[in-house]
Amino acid sequence: MSKFVMIIFGASGDLTKRKLMPALYSLYKGRRLPDGFAILGIGRTSYSDEDYRTYILSELKQFVKADEQDETSMNEFVSHLYYLAVDPALQESYPVLREKIEALNGGEPTDNLLFYLATPPSLYGVIPLYLKSVDLNKGDARIIVEKPFGYNLESALELNRIYASVFNEHQIYRIDHFLGKETAQNVLAFRFANGIFEPLWNRNYIDYVEVTAVENLGIEQRGGFYDTTGALRDMVQNHLIQLVALTAMEPPAVFNADNFRNEVVKVYESLTPLKEVDFNEHIIRGQYTAGGNKKGYREEKNIAPESRTETYIAMKLAISNWRWSGVPFYIRTGKQMPTKVTEIVVHFKETPHQMFHCSGGNCPRANKLILRLQPNEGIVLKFGMKVPGPGFEVKQVTMDFSYDQMGGVPSGDAYARLIEDCIQGDPTLFTRSDAVEASWRFFDPILNYWESHPDVPLYGYPAGTWGPLESEAMMHEHGADWTNPCKNLTNTDQYCEL
Ligand code: BG6
Repeated sequence: MSKFVMIIFGASGDLTKRKLMPALYSLYKGRRLPDGFAILGIGRTSYSDEDYRTYILSELKQFVKADEQDETSMNEFVSHLYYLAVDPALQESYPVLREKIEALNGGEPTDNLLFYLATPPSLYGVIPLYLKSVDLNKGDARIIVEKPFGYNLESALELNRIYASVFNEHQIYRIDHFLGKETAQNVLAFRFANGIFEPLWNRNYIDYVEVTAVENLGIEQRGGFYDTTGALRDMVQNHLIQLVALTAMEPPAVFNADNFRNEVVKVYESLTPLKEVDFNEHIIRGQYTAGGNKKGYREEKNIAPESRTETYIAMKLAISNWRWSGVPFYIRTGKQMPTKVTEIVVHFKETPHQMFHCSGGNCPRANKLILRLQPNEGIVLKFGMKVPGPGFEVKQVTMDFSYDQMGGVPSGDAYARLIEDCIQGDPTLFTRSDAVEASWRFFDPILNYWESHPDVPLYGYPAGTWGPLESEAMMHEHGADWTNPCKNLTNTDQYCEL
């Protein structure tokens, strides 16, 4: 049997050292990589195999959790790494690549190949064509493409056309690492493995839903990429909308790749198209300014001094179907927020009548379910309880499940899960071509509107704050506030109610 060779384009980049290599190391340590595998890094930086191994070893020491580092396994793992210093943007690099792959497979051609595109998106269109030119697209070969898949609808359609001309759909794995998160998959288990929530999971009982994925980091070393991308393309068009799909989808009849992905597409196709009023009132764009000891976005490396790229987006979405009609979904993402948190908050409708006194005058009448994807992974349910003692005072309390009680979320991480699924040939948690297109079809009018209205507001927010006040105002229209976990959340009782 031929050797399994994984080829990483962008092997000296940020994603490779932070995510891919730690994930591959964790698969290796768990003996979940095929026997005798090889990982071939491709990049323009010049390394020998030996130099590349040394470089990755030092990065693993930084990016693998301390308690998972094992000197012997790490040394063994890097001995499977190889490096080829060529420019993936040039066609003449590909015969050399083919030769190197054959050399790794004992001088024989092989299709037991997995290509990973961790390059700037500008190369997503050319690499498959060049692979085809040297017949590296055949048989069992697979390709994983990072997000964003396309820059807008037109370019996504063009990319899908290129990929379809080179590979069969079952060879193409469009990755959205949020779906690889244990806690994102658990949204499905929570909804569909429990009978008690389903009857409530609709417009009759749910008032509104929040989906938040915010970070307390800026753009790090990714200025060049980020300034031409922005939060809508980087986070909303893929990660956030996937979370909306997991929350809103119908149960697939059988849980398999096709059925699951059909239901995702149905959610995207049910998103109510946005109108001009929405562009102005229901989409809030922000950009961080200096705050605390943090730089403003425009002072970051490789950022245009007058850049109008958004680092924050809050949006109100609606889903036109029987389950969700009339239930707003508020979604938001932002860089340089007070904390890192990804969570889905489901707000149930209030009791029709409150007959009890409220403890301390603060008596929320609505139940709230928080699916916390990261950090402090868990699930929180808020409900009213009688305060012990005389009278009938009611107070909202918290019931919470934390993954720590199950030994914690396996830190193998989303990338390990997804790479392993791809090796096994399971595309369930990858985005199908029609889903990418349906998502862009929804978001494209926003991008077009911004392009034709360069004066569309971009609100500043100081680094370390919860984003522009205008996004609070959008929530107030619904008589609500965003659910903001307290900084350094360690305990679910600490949810700050604004
Ligand atoms: C990536 C985005 O896809 O997701 C980054 O490009 C973002 O900008 C990251 O920081 C967040 O992922 P996670 O898993 O750390 O929440």
